[in-house]
Amino acid sequence: MIKGCVVNFVEVDVAAESRKASSAHSFAFEHYRRQLTHMMQTLDATISRMDDKEVEGGSSRYKRVHDRFRAAAARVPLFWETNEATLRSLSSSYSTELPLHHSHTDTSHQSASSGSSKLQHSSYESLEQLMVHLSRDWGRFGEDTRQALYHQAVLATLQEYLSSIGETSKGRLLVPGAGLGRLAVECAVDGFEVEAVESSAIFVATMRNLLSLAATAEEDGTSSSLPLYPFLHFTSLNNEWDFDRRFEPIQIPDIDSRARTWLQSSNSSSNGSNSSSSSSSISSGGSLSVRHGDFVNSYNTAEHEGRFDVVVTSFFIDTLDVLECIETIRHCLTKNGSGLWLNVGPLHYHSNTAVPYSHKDIIELAADAGFEVISDRAVLSSYAGEGYLTMKPEMFKAPCTLYRLGSSCGSSSSPSPTSSSRKSIMGAGKEGKEVEAESPWIRTNFVLL
Ligand SMILES: C[S@@+](CC[C@H](N)C(=O)[O-])C[C@H]1O[C@@H](n2cnc3c(N)ncnc32)[C@H](O)[C@@H]1O
Repeated sequence: MIKGCVVNFVEVDVAAESRKASSAHSFAFEHYRRQLTHMMQTLDATISRMDDKEVEGGSSRYKRVHDRFRAAAARVPLFWETNEATLRSLSSSYSTELPLHHSHTDTSHQSASSGSSKLQHSSYESLEQLMVHLSRDWGRFGEDTRQALYHQAVLATLQEYLSSIGETSKGRLLVPGAGLGRLAVECAVDGFEVEAVESSAIFVATMRNLLSLAATAEEDGTSSSLPLYPFLHFTSLNNEWDFDRRFEPIQIPDIDSRARTWLQSSNSSSNGSNSSSSSSSISSGGSLSVRHGDFVNSYNTAEHEGRFDVVVTSFFIDTLDVLECIETIRHCLTKNGSGLWLNVGPLHYHSNTAVPYSHKDIIELAADAGFEVISDRAVLSSYAGEGYLTMKPEMFKAPCTLYRLGSSCGSSSSPSPTSSSRKSIMGAGKEGKEVEAESPWIRTNFVLL
């Protein structure tokens, strides 16, 4: 961790960073190349058959559209080369095998449950997830999503509540499962002292490269940005508005002047030009540290107990064991009665073995852990702006819930989340009292391990 720097990377293996990843990436890239070539060839053959039919029927009036479609399809593999170069460059310090697709039978992060500190391979190591999150966090098609989720849901909700209680200082904020880091950056720009934790090695490597690219970007954002065609790899051709939209590039990273200025000041500080300054004296924003690790294993330890004023989870709690997640959030929040947890995102459980708690259940579980709901509303947004290409984008009407941790919840019963956390989340009532064994919640068929 670089001292005096507002953007710090904690626990990144610097030696590993320098290892080359060329062969490791090859299989995943090769796969997309093959898939896109296949898509183009199939399309070409289908259109040819249509053309033959038309000729037999004595009409070529549709040929113009067919020719244009065929010519466009032929460009796909060529444009993929650009994507490949950008992705290789952004993830250049990543050195593990790169799979292709996200799987919703994800068994990643089993390490958290087993108590092992070793990070397991995650679905968020995939090339597909990398492209989706680049678009969501750092591309122009993700702008509406970022506005809806990061600004209007997260930051505005926090600001509204802090103003309502007359709180002017922003405090320490933790972003578990930070993805490619944009939410963490926006919170830091807004003045919080942010710590982000992310378990995917390729996400952390890419985030690091993105932040330095963003910090060196010119006013117009072009000189140091990289091109990416975010819709090029979509292999379903149904529901498309205009095939040519696949050839509209985004420039990565897409960043506004406020965030760029904040990143530039933090960068110049880390380069030593202002190394004695604290983060608040460098710019009006706060600071950002990034940790590569598993949230539960890294933060459910004595050193992190009560360290944070705010925890923000965005599209995160369904990716791991929810109970361990709530327990860890509770563990690292301040116990003075002002600790806040802002959760936004769906309940699209990634593990086959997850208990599929509803939103109402989550609120009850949180209450059992000592959280009271301050506000609860729904936010409508796509995942990464896919509606520009497809008529059937992935849309979410997700809850955005602000909780406050009551002062009487006391400290965590144990720094280990594995078995004791499950008991304590069940055992601690809203006012910190023990819940009777025959309470309605426990009377379900849910068996505690
Ligand atoms: C659905 S993505 C959301 C990313 C980001 N919060 C956003 O809103 O774009 C979930 C992220 O959580 C990370 N993640 C999942 N389990 C984790 C864990 N146990 N510890 C840290 N990060 C984790 C994944 O690698 C992924 O980047």
